Amino acid sequence: MKIILLGAPGAGKGTVAKLLTDFDGSVQISTGDILRAAVKEGTDLGKEAKAYMDRGDLVPDSLIMKIMEARLREDDCRNGFILDGFPRTIPQAQALKELLKKLDVRLDMAVNLDVPKDVILDRLTTRRTCSNPDCQAIYNIKSNPPTPEGTCKKCGSPVIQRDDETEDAIMNRLQTYNDKTAPLISFYEKKGLLKNILSLSSVDTVEEIKKHLAVEGVD
Ligand code: AP5
Repeated sequence: MKIILLGAPGAGKGTVAKLLTDFDGSVQISTGDILRAAVKEGTDLGKEAKAYMDRGDLVPDSLIMKIMEARLREDDCRNGFILDGFPRTIPQAQALKELLKKLDVRLDMAVNLDVPKDVILDRLTTRRTCSNPDCQAIYNIKSNPPTPEGTCKKCGSPVIQRDDETEDAIMNRLQTYNDKTAPLISFYEKKGLLKNILSLSSVDTVEEIKKHLAVEGVD
């Protein structure tokens, strides 16, 4: 599959993307995970991105497009990809369209995970993330807790709250989403690529995406 997952911070993009990778070998590409790994490793990219991320602002489009052009050219993307957290702005969506044309790749759909705001706020304050940059498994102290010792069930590393999970940063991320990212819903609707899913259960959402892909003849 070659899909985009749209949705507000905390809508469950990462959770749904990880479940979908088991389906047909498509890879999850999360710009947030790539940036967090770069911050942890202290690379030039990480140093440049950290201040934007901690405030809940978007990293500049030019930096993101450099990362994504290189990533989408990697061999493992040939089986398919699930874009999680990208594109995030209209210029990124336009640049992605040009890039896919250059790579001769056709997008199957853009899925908008629609989640009520009160549910989102609750999910963001109760999320925990594996601190190992190669794992970054997602937990939730209410719906999917890590081990009682606070470690990752997959790799055993400590699970943490992200640096952008302060109240100020969360409010800024939601505002940035409304201003810059929500317009992508009509961008993809106009192109006939949008599927809107009321996403309260990640498992049900995955099933619905698979159903849409089957109708499009993709699976
Ligand atoms: P990024 O990592 O993409 O953050 P985000 O979009 O804010 O999304 P989140 O990761 O917060 O949420 P999610 O939708 O993946 O939800 P999750 O599955 O974790 O980006 C971080 C920063 O990087 C940005 O602010 C920006 O600075 C920068 N950046 C990244 N991409 C960029 C780009 N393209 N351009 C510019 N800058 C960029 O779920 C949330 C919680 O809810 C978890 O605890 C989970 O367990 C729980 N949960 C999920 N689904 C359910 C469910 N159905 N029921 C119960 N609990 C659930």
